[in-house]
This record gives sequence, C-alpha cells and structure tokens, in this order.
Amino acid sequence: MAPEKRDPPQDGNVRRYFQKIYANYQSSVEKAPVVDVHQRIKRAIEPRLAGIVVDIGSGGDTRHRNPAITLLVSVDNVLEFLRHAKDPAAFNAAGDVRALPFKKGSVDRIVIQFVVHHLTDDHLAGTLRNVRAAVAESARILKPGGRIFIVDSMTWRPLDLIQRALYPLSRAILRGFGRPMVFILSAPSLVRICAESGLAAERPVTVDWGAMTDLSQALFPKVRFPLRYTPAKLTILEAVKRGEGKG
Ligand SMILES: C[S@@+](CC[C@H](N)C(=O)[O-])C[C@H]1O[C@@H](n2cnc3c(N)ncnc32)[C@H](O)[C@@H]1O
Repeated sequence: MAPEKRDPPQDGNVRRYFQKIYANYQSSVEKAPVVDVHQRIKRAIEPRLAGIVVDIGSGGDTRHRNPAITLLVSVDNVLEFLRHAKDPAAFNAAGDVRALPFKKGSVDRIVIQFVVHHLTDDHLAGTLRNVRAAVAESARILKPGGRIFIVDSMTWRPLDLIQRALYPLSRAILRGFGRPMVFILSAPSLVRICAESGLAAERPVTVDWGAMTDLSQALFPKVRFPLRYTPAKLTILEAVKRGEGKG
C-alpha cells in the first residue's frame, strides 16, 4: 500500500490568528510606513516579474503590475483574505504553500512575501520541514529558469542558531500569551534550503525598513520600535530554478 501523503503540520494558531485579524491586517497595510516599505519591495521586484506570476500568502493584496505579466495569481490558505481581496486584476486561488494547486513546471515567477517566518510548527523540526516543503513546492511549480522572490525578515546566523536552541521555551511563552510562533531564519539558511530544491539563490538584497515600527503584529501588537535598529533585516532573496529555460 502506498504511504499516506500528509502535509507537514503548521501551528494551527497561525491560521486562526490570520482568520481573526485579516481585516486589521488589510487595513494596516494601508498605513503610510507599511505602504512605503511595500513600495520599496515592489520597486525591487516588480520589474523582474513576467509571465505567470504567483503571489503565495498574498493576504489578498498583490497588485503587481508590469506589461510582461500575463497572469497574476493570488494564493492564500486563509479564505477571508481572498474573499476580501483588493486586486480585481488578480485571480484568487485558495491553497497552502506546502501543497500548491498548480502543475509541475507551470509558473514563471513566485513572490512569497512575509510568509516564511509564519510557517511554524510546535517543534523546530516541524518548522524547518514546513519551510523546506514550501521551498520544494515552489521549485516544483516553477518552470526551469523560473524565479522565486522570497521577501522576509532575515537575521544573522548566530541569532538563527540561538532561536533554534530556545525554540521550546519561546514556543511555551508565546503559547501562554495565545500568540502564534514565529521563526526568523538567516539568509544563509534559506540559501541552503533553496539549493536542496534545485533553486540557485543570488546574493540577498537588504531593503530599508524606513519608518516601520511594528515589531510584529503577531507577537507584540502594541510594541513599537524602529525596525531598522533590530537584527531582523528586511531581505529579498531571489533564486532561479536550475535547468534549461528562458528565465
Ligand atoms: C504577514 S502576512 C503577509 C501578506 C502579504 N504577503 C504582505 O506582504 O503583506 C502572511 C500571509 O501568509 C499567509 N499564510 C500563512 N501560512 C500559509 C500557508 N501555509 N499557505 C499559504 N499562505 C499562508 C497568511 O494567511 C497571510 O496572508
């Protein structure tokens, strides 16, 4: 008998959290400092988008524009985001980044923005499995020569390792406060994970947080601190799927 195919678990709190705060989240991204940072990200990646573009974990707000884009698909596993989607030009698709509803080698570009740090599980091993599964699934749907843009907070390698060591403690504390777990990888860790799935990462690019002060809506909704002074650096990691292709 073939083994049962199971998605790796994800902290149920993450999904419940986004179902609860989707309206707040969608209005928070209209605030000036967030608009500003999203604009900076857009300026960096939008000209590089082309063909079939999938924005995974879009929060229902993708709005990428470029004449080379033939189809823009907005994917999220929280239906509330898609039901209140903001971009009438995007095709909405419910889906989990670890099991995407697309055929192998069917997509030209993937954007996955502020999602990876939410792919957490109760245990570190599960979180790392989720991130690997998300990257492997992205690699599966990309055409050879296709590109993924991973946009996220990334930190220094020593802090990545410290988070790993303190994982059970952080998880217990956050659970006590009813908060979902968050895990911020270092860029070298993500580069390695990309390589495991045949994605060759380019040099990570750091983007200025500007006046962003929301440390984390998920963890500390009331704490404000200029993000540019934290070790969570806003980073774009672009990777290309190995193999023959137009790119
Ligand atoms: C912090 S929001 C980012 C939204 C948007 N990309 C942005 O940059 O504003 C994280 C998004 O990832 C989605 N998400 C979390 N886990 C997911 C998963 N396993 N599959 C698909 N989407 C997921 C959440 O529902 C939410 O919309």
